[in-house]
Amino acid sequence: MSNSGNGARRHAHICGWGMSVPEQILSNNELARMVDTNDEWIVARTGISQRHIAHGHETTATLATGAARRALDIADIAPDDVDLIIVATCTPEHNFPSTGSLVQDALGARNAGAFDMAAACTGFVYALSIGAQAIQAGAMDTVLVIGAETLSKIVNWEDRGTCVLFGDGAGALVLQGSEIPGGVLASVLRSDGSGGDLLQVPAGGSAMPASYETLRDNLHTIHMNGREVFRFATRVMADACLDVVASAGLTMDDIDVIVPHQANKRIIEAAARGLRLPMDRFVVNLDRYGNTSAASIPIALCEAVSEGRVRPNDNLILVAFGGGLTWGATLVTWNVAQKATVTGVRRMRRQALYSLARMRSAVRRGARAIEGAIWGSQAPDGIEPPHREEN
Ligand code: ACO
Repeated sequence: MSNSGNGARRHAHICGWGMSVPEQILSNNELARMVDTNDEWIVARTGISQRHIAHGHETTATLATGAARRALDIADIAPDDVDLIIVATCTPEHNFPSTGSLVQDALGARNAGAFDMAAACTGFVYALSIGAQAIQAGAMDTVLVIGAETLSKIVNWEDRGTCVLFGDGAGALVLQGSEIPGGVLASVLRSDGSGGDLLQVPAGGSAMPASYETLRDNLHTIHMNGREVFRFATRVMADACLDVVASAGLTMDDIDVIVPHQANKRIIEAAARGLRLPMDRFVVNLDRYGNTSAASIPIALCEAVSEGRVRPNDNLILVAFGGGLTWGATLVTWNVAQKATVTGVRRMRRQALYSLARMRSAVRRGARAIEGAIWGSQAPDGIEPPHREEN
């Protein structure tokens, strides 16, 4: 953690980006052999042609770690220089520990704090905004913001209303403090919890703990009122763009590229109509990935950058909506503080640190087990175990 110390205003610049998607692809035609649907319906109603699906060994944390390593490579930053890791996800590895902590361990980011951001598909926009504010406040210098999902693990593969929509993947950005104006300029974050039941995984939390009945009734999978979510999404996407542009003191004419949440092509088309903008101003890649929830914006952004669609000093809006209900937008100037050349020595050092991270994690687990065996589970002196009332 560091602070500029001289009172100069800090700006949060993007200096690295990376994505990681499973190799396994599930096409619409393959899906049509599993459930009562067809390629024509899916393409016409959603724009999706295929999605990437995690193998058994691929999890939200492994995809997040892959994306983070690529982003750190581009930024030419060592994992131990990262101050904070935020993983936006609605498919975490566990309720706890956070997926952020598992990614921190896998990267060997030994100086970083880590947590998960739960705002469904809007999670990445929320995480980017909070990460940038930590830098702008002078509290942090380098923040890794990741969106990662394995939605295939919480989809009901017998429900054609939802299983055709979702896919797996991860994308990451590295934010770093700078005194040069630019980077993340403004954000708007919104929520309307009265619509929480429109898009939810009903069971597995404190409201409905896991039981035989919840498993039998498929209540650990995504339940969605598609039409209502569609109506909500078409209303809020354009509003969020206009709000974030106004809060940065700009107009829509100043915006070069919009990277929207990739849920449904018709929703993006409705936003374009609402903003009176041509579709070529929007990045759309949902045909190949489906809806990857919190990962969809960073994956689309990474592709747009590698295709040359995002140029230096472009103003971008990242805009999303999702479960909660939540929605929001972030406005970013793409004046990337990218290092000119990433030297082989520094790349090798990063690789060595990743290998060391695995070893350190194994050694720590071993040491903890040995300590436990030696000291047992005695309560420290002077602390009484909690007293339990007899009935
Ligand atoms: N294949 C074939 N037919 C289907 C399928 C399917 N996969 N799914 C539904 N249908 C049928 C329905 O049964 C219905 O038939 P009926 O008219 O005989 O009753 C018909 O198609 C129309 O169904 P609708 O639900 O009205 O279809 P719609 O055009 O609304 O498209 C969709 C459904 C794609 C789900 C759309 O509503 C949508 O995209 N909603 C938003 C979803 C979304 O963005 N979710 C965000 C999740 S993000 C997060 O936070 C996790």
